[in-house]
Amino acid sequence: MTVLPTSTPSDMSTDPSFDAAASRSVLLHELIDDPESSGRVKLRVLTGDRPTGPLHIGHYLASLRSRVELQDKGIESLVLVADYQVITDRDSVGAIQDNVMGCVLDYLAAGIDPEQSTIFTHSAVPALNQLLLPFLSLVTDSELRRNPTVKDELAATDGRPLSGLLLTYPVHQAADILFCHANVVPIGRDNLPHVEQTRLIARRFNRRYAGGQEVFREPDALLSDAPLVLGLDGQKMSKSRGNSVTLAATADETAALIRKARTDSERRITFEPGRRPEVSSMLTTAALFRGESPQQIAEQVGDGGAAQLKKVVIEAVNEGLAGHRRRRAELAADQAYLRDVLRAGNARADEIAEATLATVRQVMQMTY
Ligand code: TRP
Repeated sequence: MTVLPTSTPSDMSTDPSFDAAASRSVLLHELIDDPESSGRVKLRVLTGDRPTGPLHIGHYLASLRSRVELQDKGIESLVLVADYQVITDRDSVGAIQDNVMGCVLDYLAAGIDPEQSTIFTHSAVPALNQLLLPFLSLVTDSELRRNPTVKDELAATDGRPLSGLLLTYPVHQAADILFCHANVVPIGRDNLPHVEQTRLIARRFNRRYAGGQEVFREPDALLSDAPLVLGLDGQKMSKSRGNSVTLAATADETAALIRKARTDSERRITFEPGRRPEVSSMLTTAALFRGESPQQIAEQVGDGGAAQLKKVVIEAVNEGLAGHRRRRAELAADQAYLRDVLRAGNARADEIAEATLATVRQVMQMTY
């Protein structure tokens, strides 16, 4: 469980649109952090998770906490449990029920308020999915094949053939964003190509099918400034790889997992992400939970070696998550309530999607 710079798909560093998106993200952060700004009211946030496994501390640190902050600043938010995105790169839906309800649990436990934010799933919102059809007409197959994240995801499937859904899921993700006219999309860098694709789709739709009228606005990515926490094996922390401390784990399970995690044999603990990725990621994890810097934590551990480092990290994680875990356990006892939350969110998303699709049909003259 270490922290590395957020992963950047292989051929994105040379992409000038990446720099432009990064600068827009900085401006957006400024707008959001300025309590005087009137521009805030025009913001609508869409975030999403693929329910391929339980959410873990990486999600908590890099996305759940900031979603709650955005919501608490009064910015309207929708949170998507992207169930159709599960089957982009695997043969079965897996433990979809548990994974979807687990996401809902973690959202609520983290402080997402279903009265203020709309929690919903793809599969319950037909009109969202229908937008995929006109949107697919607006992209070329070479654009889809060039998408660096799709290429990386395909490479990670070990020779699995490229499915039509994996190739086109960035367009489906555009529908996730555009159906509700979200203009702020908090993501990791690996999702940036999809936001860029979404901007193109919005622009092309308006031009080709709406006579230049702004049916869809172009969203901006909001890049997280939280560093990525690595998995217990030193690899990217992943829901489906089983190398993470999940938010559902108990304090004892957390301790056992962290005790087994990879470190190195140098006694003096230092924060050197390049040379000591595992140790540095652990320091960052503790630092993020405690609101201190990784260097400060390193100094506290000093010559204590990996054992002392792990002790500090275990404490930081378990203390930092105590409230979340308590609320999570309470909520888990009331499955009927969780279902109600999801049903209400789905109904609200459906209403928004139907209204958008009605406009789309109208501008495309497909009303009969
Ligand atoms: N692809 C996102 C992820 O990897 C999940 C997601 C699905 C998403 N649809 C979205 C994120 C729309 C932002 C906007 O976690």
